[in-house]
Amino acid sequence: MADRVRMKEIRTGVAQTSSHLIEVEDLHTHFPTQDGVVKAVDGVSFEIEAGKTLGVVGESGCGKSITALSIMKLIEKPGRIVGGSIKLDGFDIVNATDDEMREIRGNDISMIFQEPMTSLNPVYTCGDQIAEAVSLHGNMGRREAWNKAVEMIRDVGMPDPKRRAKQYPHELSGGMRQRVMIAMALSTDPALLIADEPTTALDVTIQAQILELMKALREKNKMAIMLITHDLGVIAEMADEVVVMYAGKVVERSDVNTIFAQPHHPYTHGLLASIPRLGEKRERLEVIKGVVPNPLNLPKGCLFKRRCPHAMPVCDTAPPFQQIGPNHFSLCWLTADQKPPAIGADATGAIAEETAAAMSPSK
Ligand SMILES: Nc1ncnc2c1ncn2[C@@H]1O[C@H](COP(=O)(O)OP(=O)(O)O)[C@@H](O)[C@H]1O
Ligand code: SF4
Ligand SMILES: [Mg+2]
Repeated sequence: MADRVRMKEIRTGVAQTSSHLIEVEDLHTHFPTQDGVVKAVDGVSFEIEAGKTLGVVGESGCGKSITALSIMKLIEKPGRIVGGSIKLDGFDIVNATDDEMREIRGNDISMIFQEPMTSLNPVYTCGDQIAEAVSLHGNMGRREAWNKAVEMIRDVGMPDPKRRAKQYPHELSGGMRQRVMIAMALSTDPALLIADEPTTALDVTIQAQILELMKALREKNKMAIMLITHDLGVIAEMADEVVVMYAGKVVERSDVNTIFAQPHHPYTHGLLASIPRLGEKRERLEVIKGVVPNPLNLPKGCLFKRRCPHAMPVCDTAPPFQQIGPNHFSLCWLTADQKPPAIGADATGAIAEETAAAMSPSK
């Protein structure tokens, strides 16, 4: 079991350690299906320090949620983690027992989901649900746990917390339910909060409030946050580091400023180009032509090549995760200044046929 005391020390800066709160290394999570193996997560690595936020971006289906659920060890069978390691303050999550994981989920890692109704129980009041989590975690009596629940409901910015605590989830608006779920997730004072598209379903005003709330709690509790979103505006607002995922892999990784100022991977360029500008109405992601490849029929070499405007013959070979700058990596053959690599005349040759097809206006 991870050492809670030491984790608390790390969060409060008492302990001197160079290690990260969470370290994911070369994670592979696969789902065997009738038609073949879906490699939902295929070699993902990242770390998060206490008090910092990692933003995880990418289109739908690229493996963000399965990465998060792997950390929680909540992968539905027959899916399973088939390789790599996940360390929570040095503790080996991949090989943890069910009992150890229950304890970790009740104390050290919390997760909030896009749709709060999936994690709230409709037959208990909001206060009872938070009190239950609090009492399991803190070994408290009923009355004390209830008071703490009301306090948490106040902390997440819900007016009239005593009355709210007595309400059932269906009596609340979407934004209020999301707050209850956040209150529940934070009631155990987790070292790591995983937020999977936490504000996608909410209107912009509520979204901004929830993000402010998460920021405040990050400061107060030195909590690490893994923030999954396809919204780059949210990333700019919240994240310290960013990983960009595509088809189960990390295609680019750097600090948040570099991702916006000097993106390297053509996929990241596409994501950034698809941010709607003020006063401009257009569908997100329209700039990236084509669709995410079928996980059961992945292209050979670079998984992005059918959609990439820079695709070249060398891209039929899997690209390296090359270092572009300090703390900046990209899974692409292009050089740091985005030129084709000097590895033979072929490399600068014609655009691969598949790409030409993907880019043609008829598509
Ligand atoms: N239970 C499952 N069985 C088979 N494939 C799955 C299952 N759950 C997820 N996947 C596949 O794993 C991939 C990654 O999914 P997910 O992590 O949910 O994507 P994201 O959260 O980035 O939208 C997708 O191709 C998805 O179809
Ligand atoms: S490796 Fe080639 S196809 Fe893949 S992103 Fe880089 S340039 Fe595009
Ligand atoms: Mg998801």
